[in-house]
Amino acid sequence: MTEPAVASDTTVPGVTTVPGVKTVPGVDRTHVRPACECRNLSVDLESAQGTQRILAGVDFEVGEAEFVSVMGRSGSGKTTLLRAVGGLLDPATDSTVTFHGQPVLGPPDGVVFVFQNYAASLLPWRTVEKNVALGLEGKVAKAEMHQRVAEALAMVGLADRAKDYPWRLSGGMQQRVQLARALAMRPRALLMDEPFGALDAMTKGALQDELQRVQERTRATVVFVTHDIDEAVYLSDRIVILEGGPATVAHRIDVNLPRPRDQLATKELPEFLRLRRQVYDAIVHRDD
Ligand SMILES: Nc1ncnc2c1ncn2[C@@H]1O[C@H](COP(=O)(O)OP(=O)(O)OP(=O)(O)O)[C@@H](O)[C@H]1O
Ligand SMILES: [Mg+2]
Repeated sequence: MTEPAVASDTTVPGVTTVPGVKTVPGVDRTHVRPACECRNLSVDLESAQGTQRILAGVDFEVGEAEFVSVMGRSGSGKTTLLRAVGGLLDPATDSTVTFHGQPVLGPPDGVVFVFQNYAASLLPWRTVEKNVALGLEGKVAKAEMHQRVAEALAMVGLADRAKDYPWRLSGGMQQRVQLARALAMRPRALLMDEPFGALDAMTKGALQDELQRVQERTRATVVFVTHDIDEAVYLSDRIVILEGGPATVAHRIDVNLPRPRDQLATKELPEFLRLRRQVYDAIVHRDD
């Protein structure tokens, strides 16, 4: 980041100034309209022991253009919540799931999933650009498709690898291709399940920043599942923590760090460290 240091008289209450980072607070969510909304969401799934309630009475909402991370221990139901938000499973009766006010009865238009397993989600016999075009084929005119693919590849810094095959790319690049495929669909909401979980720290940081820039530009709503506390605090406007069996929302933590965020400067802010500790304590109950 090469932003100039900001004068102290522009300081926003509750937002710490740091040289090199603009004092722009997180999104002001006072009047944000809901994009994804779950009310009293319960989900039952079949297991070897019979039907199991996985989520019970979850209230969860994400505003338009908001970035919300979902955290919780392994098996707490994060992926299940994401699937319910994206219309990939049937919730129990009495549950309400809506996307921009419309009931979710299947995957809504404008919702795109991004998973951790990029290698399995790219088709090896298709070039990078043809993988990115997958969700558009037959849906938009050819010229528009080419334009959108080129734009999406440029957004993730892979314009020069369009004609290559995914298996010739590094893991981080392959995950970029998956992100480009999602972006080419011009999503209103990105549902991301540990998308950077398998990447090394440097690549992960670069992709976090890519995602941050893309979200700022496209104003997409993001629901982001992660196990990485630093990642959740760094990227989010809000962190929701699931807990219990069956799971419910145990904590909602607002993240009002200035944007754009910076891998070094943001992570040195006292507020970043405070939030990191708060999330850690909420997940592992160190303070019990
Ligand atoms: N398709 C399925 N059928 C039956 N049970 C399932 C299915 N998917 C998940 N479950 C069960 O639901 C519970 C929550 O699983 P889920 O995958 O949502 O957890 P998670 O929080 O995403 O875990 P992780 O952090 O390990 O990815 C687990 O007990 C799991 O066994
Ligand atoms: Mg999961």
